[in-house]
Amino acid sequence: MSKENDEHILYSNFTFLYELVFKPFFFPAIKKTMDLIKEEQPQKILEVGIGTGYSLEHYPSGVHVTGVDISNKMVEVSKKKTLDIVDKDFEILQTDGENLPFNENSFDLVVSFSVITVVNSPQDFLNQIRKVLKPNQKAVLIMHSRSSGFLGLIDRFWELPCKFLFGFTLLRHIEDLNLDGWQVLNHKVASTILGYPYNHQIVLKKV
Ligand SMILES: C[S@@+](CC[C@H](N)C(=O)[O-])C[C@H]1O[C@@H](n2cnc3c(N)ncnc32)[C@H](O)[C@@H]1O
Repeated sequence: MSKENDEHILYSNFTFLYELVFKPFFFPAIKKTMDLIKEEQPQKILEVGIGTGYSLEHYPSGVHVTGVDISNKMVEVSKKKTLDIVDKDFEILQTDGENLPFNENSFDLVVSFSVITVVNSPQDFLNQIRKVLKPNQKAVLIMHSRSSGFLGLIDRFWELPCKFLFGFTLLRHIEDLNLDGWQVLNHKVASTILGYPYNHQIVLKKV
């Protein structure tokens, strides 16, 4: 699927429905990541693929969050949300996570929630995150990770409808990627439905 389709059809045109459909599924893993961020106390955070920006109010007070998304509509909705949040600084930009316009070693933490399963090249996406992250700092990714055994059959059954309706794949796994320059600190299931692990939290450190 081309980026233009990702932007205009799937996400831009359905911005108004997005939170209603996805937030109940995605927020539990985001909440767990916010708890981790509170422990780490980073100052400059980048969130790649902010969507409608419902995560933004949950960052700890006093941080500077740069939020980016490829969809202009998502960026507009997120920007509006930031107007009501006064205890942290935001910069919200329309940009491609596979080609981030920031200097190397710019951020103390990079997070991305349910985006790596949507982008055209997960490897380019991860490489860009590594580029802009400061050395020895962390990236936290929330993603659906392909399962094995019976749960893997469920992934394969839902793959086509998910790809068609939502533009994301259920078949990616962090271990498919070249993780040179990263240390995997943690990889755990972050949220389930009836035992089916639909989101994982992966904590990587740039080494
Ligand atoms: C499944 S939504 C997740 C949104 C939000 N992070 C959440 O948890 O609800 C995927 C988001 O990634 C954005 N996106 C897709 N490809 C992108 C890219 N190459 N760079 C930046 N954002 C992208 C989409 O516009 C959409 O807002």
